[in-house]
Amino acid sequence: SILILDFGSQTTQLIARRIREIGVYTDIVPGDTPASELPLDGVKGLIFSGSPFSVYEKDAPGVDVKIYSLGLPVLGICYGFQRMTEDHGGKVSPLEKREFGRSRIEYRRSAPLFKNIPDGFTSWMSHGDSIEKPGEDFELIAQSEHHIAAAWNRDKQLYGIQFHPEVSHCEYGVEILRNYVLEICGADAAWSMEAYLEQVSAEIRKRVGKERVLLLISGGVDSTVVGGLLLQALPHEQVYLMYIDTGLMRKDESVEVERTLRSLGAKNLSIIHAEDEFLSALAGIDDPEEKRRIIGDLFITVQAREVEKLSIGDAFLAQGTLYTDMIESGKGVGKKAKVIKSHHNVRSPLVEAKREAGRIIEPLDRLYKDEVRRLGTTLGIGDQIIRRHPFPGPGLAVRILGEITPEKCAILREADSIFMDELKKRGLYDEIWQAFSVLLPVRSVGVTGDAREYGYVLALRAIISRDGMTADVYPFESKDLLEISSLITNSVREIGRVVYDISSKPPATIEWE
Ligand code: XMP
Repeated sequence: SILILDFGSQTTQLIARRIREIGVYTDIVPGDTPASELPLDGVKGLIFSGSPFSVYEKDAPGVDVKIYSLGLPVLGICYGFQRMTEDHGGKVSPLEKREFGRSRIEYRRSAPLFKNIPDGFTSWMSHGDSIEKPGEDFELIAQSEHHIAAAWNRDKQLYGIQFHPEVSHCEYGVEILRNYVLEICGADAAWSMEAYLEQVSAEIRKRVGKERVLLLISGGVDSTVVGGLLLQALPHEQVYLMYIDTGLMRKDESVEVERTLRSLGAKNLSIIHAEDEFLSALAGIDDPEEKRRIIGDLFITVQAREVEKLSIGDAFLAQGTLYTDMIESGKGVGKKAKVIKSHHNVRSPLVEAKREAGRIIEPLDRLYKDEVRRLGTTLGIGDQIIRRHPFPGPGLAVRILGEITPEKCAILREADSIFMDELKKRGLYDEIWQAFSVLLPVRSVGVTGDAREYGYVLALRAIISRDGMTADVYPFESKDLLEISSLITNSVREIGRVVYDISSKPPATIEWE
């Protein structure tokens, strides 16, 4: 595998993913980890990431210089290159003008890093500092118009590049990473979901032995994949799955979740029907934060009560935590990496207690979302669940603006399922990051036959995004919108009018509440 030392760059994750796409496993550790504490088992090479810092700044993240003599190749990218240069007696200085964007690179001398790459390719730069004088025993191997673009120390196998091969605009970026990882480091391209499945199943079996494991299923991709994984790894009697229907789920969601889990072999599957409990707790409440609080609290109560009923007190608890969650909650990586995701989800005492007792199993904690999807497919979980758009914890409660009633839930479910079916039929579902319908708390007038009728207004929302932090409106062909609108008003009598939300995030949010 390849170990990445992170100095807080926004593209560290991207480096890790690109290399995994090449078929080599990657791990990320904080850049200032002492050499003696690096997890080097099986590691064939190191990469130093970029950083928002300049090496000459007082708080600039440093690296344990013993790392340069571990006998492993090191590739420094941007700040990583500058770090390496500074640590070897070279000089880094600020540019008068930042170099940002596409930049042509010419070789000075051919080097294994550029094997099979034509001279004069377009790289991607983003730096405010540059190498004025390379480190001792470093030889220049490439140059951009005004700056040093790459250098190496042949004996020590230290490579530095100023550009960002991990960014998709960098021509031959993947090839350069591939040269480094496969040719220079000699890593095996053996990382695949099949291999991971085997490895993680063995780990689960070893850890769990003959004990029991409990998994709370939300119906989303991650928890369903964990369910599939547990059922694949362990005798089915040892696996306890619980799904709580809050009455705020999408149409047929509970049935589908149950069908999928049964098809994967689930035996001890509890589907808890708590619809009435949730809907009566929400009756008369129209404040969004109040709704979220009620749902969160009740979820914890119902969960605790139902888990208690199972009488499997000492069981392990499995969780669908992803690699990015680990990093974002500050357990995995660099203190200097910025915390990006805001966590909406409630902290459950059950999870905290199990964590405290060391009884948590997180079999996806080395995977990225796209890898989880691939693992799910490997496990035989259908696209219906694997490709599903994100769905908020409070479910339809935040998509029925104002007070929630069972009648409104039914209307929204029906209308939204038409919207989703149409997106799928039209081949648009996978192009959209998240799409859903919102039932507005206003009635508007319409005519059906001779009568004036007051129907509900339904807002459709469809956005493209990378991570939900920002979002652009999906640019439908107007024909699609018009047809979908008529299908909805024709089939759901209570809806008299359909509108399309054309606000991006920011300033709007993705959800309406
Ligand atoms: P916003 O509306 O904040 O949404 O732009 C960003 C992403 O988060 C989801 N979301 C939630 N997820 N509990 C959740 O688990 C919540 O209370 C919640 N609110 C919003 C939203 O669907 C989008 O994907």
